[in-house]
Amino acid sequence: MKVLVTGGAGYIGSVTVERLIAHGASVVVFDNLYQGHRAAVHPDAVFVQGDLADAAAIDETIARHQPDGIMHFASHTLVGESWQKPFLYLRDNVVNGLNLMESAVRHGVGRFILSSTANLFDDPERIPIEATERIVPGSPYGESKHILERELYWLDRACGLRHACLRYFNACGATETRGEDHHPETHLIPLVLQVALGQREHITIFGDDYDTPDGTCIRDYIHVVDLAEAHILALHSLDGGSRKYNLGTGRGYSVREVIETAREVTGHPIPTVMGPRRPGDPALLVAGNEAITRELGWRPRYATLREMVETAWRWHVAHPQGYEE
Ligand code: UFG
Repeated sequence: MKVLVTGGAGYIGSVTVERLIAHGASVVVFDNLYQGHRAAVHPDAVFVQGDLADAAAIDETIARHQPDGIMHFASHTLVGESWQKPFLYLRDNVVNGLNLMESAVRHGVGRFILSSTANLFDDPERIPIEATERIVPGSPYGESKHILERELYWLDRACGLRHACLRYFNACGATETRGEDHHPETHLIPLVLQVALGQREHITIFGDDYDTPDGTCIRDYIHVVDLAEAHILALHSLDGGSRKYNLGTGRGYSVREVIETAREVTGHPIPTVMGPRRPGDPALLVAGNEAITRELGWRPRYATLREMVETAWRWHVAHPQGYEE
């Protein structure tokens, strides 16, 4: 199978390309390198540097390579930034995704996987959060993914574009060669590991007055390889119809538990400073993965936070400056 991967130079995209190639797929990466890294692109993938805002560029790429499926990772992805710069999300994420979908339909690409988000569930009625939970986007970012999900729904009905929407909870971890390298870094696990590497003095805990057992926010961390494998299963499942899944392990860890795990893995004391709540952070996000487990036989290979942090730590030790070496 030939797969076009937008954002294949980014964190989750580049690991998914690695897994696709390991499964024997041929891969074309389309990425503007705005956040991605050229060095993260698998050497066996065809690389096209291009921007989804350029409808002609993506159309030409799809016409030339005729992929069987598309995985769409390229996106602005930060909840906080989406409040500061809403048009990057409500316009760029949406229009860029639509350019891609239009080319997919025009060239008869019948399989489309969308990177979606747990930020669709700002006010869940039930924990763990199953894919059937009502959607309440928590930010302009979450709304941009909700709009893309709705567009796919109508394009399936109108044009037969089979798709899967995968709502990630908190991606983390690394392979031997690919890991998390954002500028600026905002995610908890890489920031904590930068403290252990001596690159930061401390980690600030964003609030300890939440309604959780230790007062800090609880998140469902999922290893990036398990996410990648879910994409591949989903791509192959689409003959049976379009689908939506929430992707996490179904187990939550608090910010304090993450820091404690990182202390055990790294042997570093990792000093903390208490800070105020970060606006927009829900207290508790844990995924219900019953649907993808039952329908696709997906099981997380990395079941515990410790295993996930160990892989991230190995990558950060081997790449202390990320991809800039
Ligand atoms: N946190 C800290 N200190 C930090 C950084 C983070 O205490 O320096 C806390 C946050 O408050 C949060 C937890 O660590 O409680 C995890 O924060 P991350 O920034 O690592 O991840 P988020 O849960 O905010 O974001 C993730 C994805 C988003 C997605 C969101 C859904 O990265 O793409 O989940 O809510 F939209």
